[in-house]
Amino acid sequence: MSANILVFDSGVGGLSILSEIKQTLPNESYYYLFDNARLPYGELEEQQLIRGCINIIGNAVSQVDADIVVVACNSASTLILPSLRAKLSIPIVGVVPAIKPAAEMTKNKHIGLLATPGTVVRSYTHDLIQRFATDCEVQCFGSSELVLLAEAKMAQEYVDQQLIEKILQPIKQSQIDTLVLGCTHFPILREELQACLGEGFTLLDSAAAIAARVKVLLQQQPSNARPMESMAYFTTRDISIGLKRTLADYGFSVIEQLTSSIE
Ligand code: DGL
Repeated sequence: MSANILVFDSGVGGLSILSEIKQTLPNESYYYLFDNARLPYGELEEQQLIRGCINIIGNAVSQVDADIVVVACNSASTLILPSLRAKLSIPIVGVVPAIKPAAEMTKNKHIGLLATPGTVVRSYTHDLIQRFATDCEVQCFGSSELVLLAEAKMAQEYVDQQLIEKILQPIKQSQIDTLVLGCTHFPILREELQACLGEGFTLLDSAAAIAARVKVLLQQQPSNARPMESMAYFTTRDISIGLKRTLADYGFSVIEQLTSSIE
C-alpha cells in the first residue's frame, strides 16, 4: 500500500526535499515534476510564475492521481500556495525559508537568508522575518547563479568553486553565524558552500521539517491499496544525459512526458 507523492520544483532543487521525505517514508510512490523549461524561477515575473505553476501542477496531480503535493520550491511556495489550495482538494505542503529555526539557533543574533532574487523580495519572506526574527539582524542575499551551479552539479558538470567564493564574499565578510538556505537548490551545494564559508557558519534548510509534515498529513489520510510503483519524473523540457544518470542513481526509472502545455 502506498501513497502517490508529487514533488514539484523548477529544477533539481526539490530532489533535496524528496530525498529527505523518502528517507522518512521509504515505501511510497514518488513523482517528481521539474518545470525546467522556465528555470530559474527566481527571475520570473510573479503572475507568470503563479499561472504556469497552477496549470502544470494541476495537470500532473490528475495524471499521477496524487494524494499529496509538495511544492519543493521557496520561490513558488512564497507565491502560489493560496491559489493552489483553492484549486486542489488534496493536501499541499509548501517550503518556506527556515527563518524561525534560524532565529532560535543563532548565538549572535545575526542571520543570513540566501535564496533566489524572487524569494528575497517577497512580502511572504519579509512577513516571516517580522514574525519570527524581530530580535535579530537579518541580511538577505539573492542568487540565481547558485541555482545554475546546483543544476550543473546534478548534471555531472563542472562546478566553479571560485564563482561560489565570489558569490559568498559578502556573507563571509558579515557577522552572520546562521545562514538559511532559502532555495531548495542550495542544499545540493552544501559541501561547496560550507567549504567556502568555513565551520563558523551554521547552514539551515527546511527539508527535515517538510518530511515530518508530509508524514503527519499522510497518517491523517485514508490509505490507498495501491501496489508500490517505481519512481517517475516529468519534465517540461529535455534533460541532459548527466542529469538522467543522476536521476537513475536516485532510483528514478520512468520518464514521463507532461501531457499539458504550460500557459
Ligand atoms: N529551487 C527553487 C527555490 O527553492 C527555485 C530556484 C529557481 O528556479 O530559481 O527557490
